[in-house]
Amino acid sequence: MHYIRLLRPAKIQSSAGGPVASLLFTITTDLGDSFLCPGDGSIDLVVAAEDSSADPADPAAVQLRGRQTCRYKWKTGMRVLDAKVRLWPGLKKETVNCRIAIYPAQQRPRETTTPLGALHVGDVLPWRIGADETLKTGVVMPATFEFVNGVCAPVSVRTLGLGTSRFNGDGATEKESNLQFEEDIGESIARHIWDAGVVTSAYLADTCSSPESIRKVLPIVNESFNVLELGSGVGILGITIAAIIAKIAAIRGQTPKNARVLLTDLEEAEERARSNIARAESALTCNPTDGTNVAIKYENLDWDEGREGRFGSLVAATPWDLVVLSDCTYNVDSLPALVGTLNALHAAKERHLDAVGGGPVKSSVLLATKPRHSSEEALFGLLEDQSWAYRVVKEIPLPKIGEEDEVVQIYLLEKGGHII
Ligand SMILES: C[S@@+](CC[C@H](N)C(=O)[O-])C[C@H]1O[C@@H](n2cnc3c(N)ncnc32)[C@H](O)[C@@H]1O
Repeated sequence: MHYIRLLRPAKIQSSAGGPVASLLFTITTDLGDSFLCPGDGSIDLVVAAEDSSADPADPAAVQLRGRQTCRYKWKTGMRVLDAKVRLWPGLKKETVNCRIAIYPAQQRPRETTTPLGALHVGDVLPWRIGADETLKTGVVMPATFEFVNGVCAPVSVRTLGLGTSRFNGDGATEKESNLQFEEDIGESIARHIWDAGVVTSAYLADTCSSPESIRKVLPIVNESFNVLELGSGVGILGITIAAIIAKIAAIRGQTPKNARVLLTDLEEAEERARSNIARAESALTCNPTDGTNVAIKYENLDWDEGREGRFGSLVAATPWDLVVLSDCTYNVDSLPALVGTLNALHAAKERHLDAVGGGPVKSSVLLATKPRHSSEEALFGLLEDQSWAYRVVKEIPLPKIGEEDEVVQIYLLEKGGHII
C-alpha cells in the first residue's frame, strides 16, 4: 500500500482571484522507503477542497459553496508534487475554514455520504474489489488536511469508511460509520498508521457481519468483553475493534455492557492516540436504554516495564479477554520485551481469575504482521519457548502498485487453558 503524505504543513497564499492552498506532498510506502512508481502509466489524483463549516456527511450542506477541485498526474520517477487549489473567491486568507483531500481518481467514494478522502474497507481487501481492475494492483491511502482560520493543522487525517451497517439487533438503526485517524506530518514510528493495522482493521470491519468468520479472529466471549492493544500507535486497530464490538454482539443476540478497549504504547504515541479516541467517540455505540456501552481509553505501557509485570493502573485492573497488536514485530531487538509482556499479562490474568476461583486460565492474542524480513521469524522461537501456541487465522494479499505484492498475516496466539 502507498500513502499520500505532506512534506510540510499546507499553506494558504493570497492572490487577486481568491486564496490558493498549496500542498507539497509525496506518495510512499508505510516505511517511507520507496516512492510510488506506476510503471509506464500514471495515477490520476484529485485534490478537492470543501467548506468545513458544513457537515461532511451532509452533501446538500457541502454543496452550498461547492467543491473546488483540480487534478494532477503522478508518474514514475516523481518524488514530490506541489498541488495548488484555488479556493472560493472573496474569502480572506485568515477566514479560510476548509478541508482538502488528496485521493486517486479511481478510488471515488462508494456512497454519497462518505466523506472525501475516505478509503472504504472493501477497497483494501482484494476479494471485495469489484469491476475496477486497476485497484487490484494496489491501493493508495488518501489524506485529508484541515484548515482553521487559514492555518493547516500539523496532522494528516486518514478516514476508514466502514460502510453502512445495522448496529442494533432489531435492525432499527442504519448507521454509516467512518473512522478518522490523525497522524503526524513528518517522520515518526508511533504517530503513523501502518499497513498491517489498516488491512487488519479493514478485514475485521468487513467480516464482522459473518458470525462464523469473526468468531475465529475475535473470540468475543461475554457482554463485558475487553480488549488490550499493545503498541497501538495512532490506534487504528483498537479503535476499529471498539467501533464493531456492538455489531458483533448484536448479531449474536448479545448486548455489550461495559465493553472496553484499552490502547497502550510508549509516551510519544499518547497525544495522537488520545485525539483519535476523541474523534471516534461518535462512532461508538452507547445506548442507556438497553445498557450498551463501549468505551476506549489510553495508557502508556513500555514493554521493557511490562515484561517485569510493571503495569499502569488501567492495564493492571483487568484480566484481558483479548490482547491485540499490529505491525509490532518487525524489530527483532524488541521481541523479547514484547513476548515477556505477553507472559506477564498472562500471569496477571491467572492471579485475577484465581482470586475469583476460576478454572484454568487461557490468554488469547491477535497478532497482525506484514512480514518485512526473515529475521522477524525469531518471534516464533520465543513464543514456543514460553509455551505459546500460534496459528495463522487469515492471510490477506496486499497488492502494491509497481512493486512486489506483499501479505498481511493474522495470527492467533494462545497460552494456558484449553487450546483450540
Ligand atoms: C510500526 S508501529 C505500529 C503501530 C500500530 N500498531 C499500527 O499498526 O499502526 C510499532 C509500534 O510499536 C510501538 N513500540 C515499539 N517499541 C515499544 C515498546 N518497547 N513498548 C511499547 N510500544 C513499543 C511503537 O511506539 C509503535 O507505535
